[in-house]
Amino acid sequence: MTGGTGLFISFEGIDGSGKSTQARLLAEQLRGDGHEVVLTREPGGSPGAEEIRALVLQGDPDRWSAETELLLFTAARRDHLERTIQPALARGATVICDRFADSTRMYQGLSRGDLRAAVDALHERMIGVEPDLTILIDMDPAAALPRAKARATAEERFEDFGLPLQEKMRAGFLALAAEFPDRFRIIDGNRAPEAVARDVRAALQART
Ligand SMILES: Nc1ncnc2c1ncn2[C@@H]1O[C@H](COP(=O)(O)OP(=O)(O)OP(=O)(O)O)[C@@H](O)[C@H]1O
Ligand SMILES: [Mg+2]
Repeated sequence: MTGGTGLFISFEGIDGSGKSTQARLLAEQLRGDGHEVVLTREPGGSPGAEEIRALVLQGDPDRWSAETELLLFTAARRDHLERTIQPALARGATVICDRFADSTRMYQGLSRGDLRAAVDALHERMIGVEPDLTILIDMDPAAALPRAKARATAEERFEDFGLPLQEKMRAGFLALAAEFPDRFRIIDGNRAPEAVARDVRAALQART
């Protein structure tokens, strides 16, 4: 984690699997070790992208077509990359991102028709960056959904689709991990936060 280019870590997984919790715990741990850490999230992570976040996560679930939604997510990611992620990596900071392009591959690529090819084409053209390490927090949607619901915010677009979608997303994330084995590590999220965090830390240590 030294040198000019920082490490880029993403957390992925279904709603309520513990991504935000684990991203925060890892950030705290690395900061405690003296690293500069930029903890960020998608959609959002820069002022412009946060504005787009409100457009895509609030309001009527059918507000946007799947294609329009994909364009909005990609626009948000591009801004996030330009304004937050790339400057941080350039100065050697570790970037921890709560969801990144894999979430788009799943939610926009799988959930509302098969847009995966469009997701990949846009990604290659407009983003072109993958994390060095992607932590997939895997867990049974039946156990994760009550957690997601307990979070209770105005941003409920995707978990409102319910358990069948979450089951499909779980399988999709596992398939994605198999597709990109070099950067993915799968961690069992159905344990105490501290136990999950220990495995996250071990995965990072094995990588660096
Ligand atoms: N290992 C755990 N055991 C029990 N509860 C947990 C665990 N990890 C997180 N939680 C709780 O479950 C809820 C959801 O966790 P968190 O927000 O980290 O999930 P998430 O994956 O970021 O969800 P979302 O996709 O909806 O943003 C929170 O209330 C959190 O405190
Ligand atoms: Mg979260």
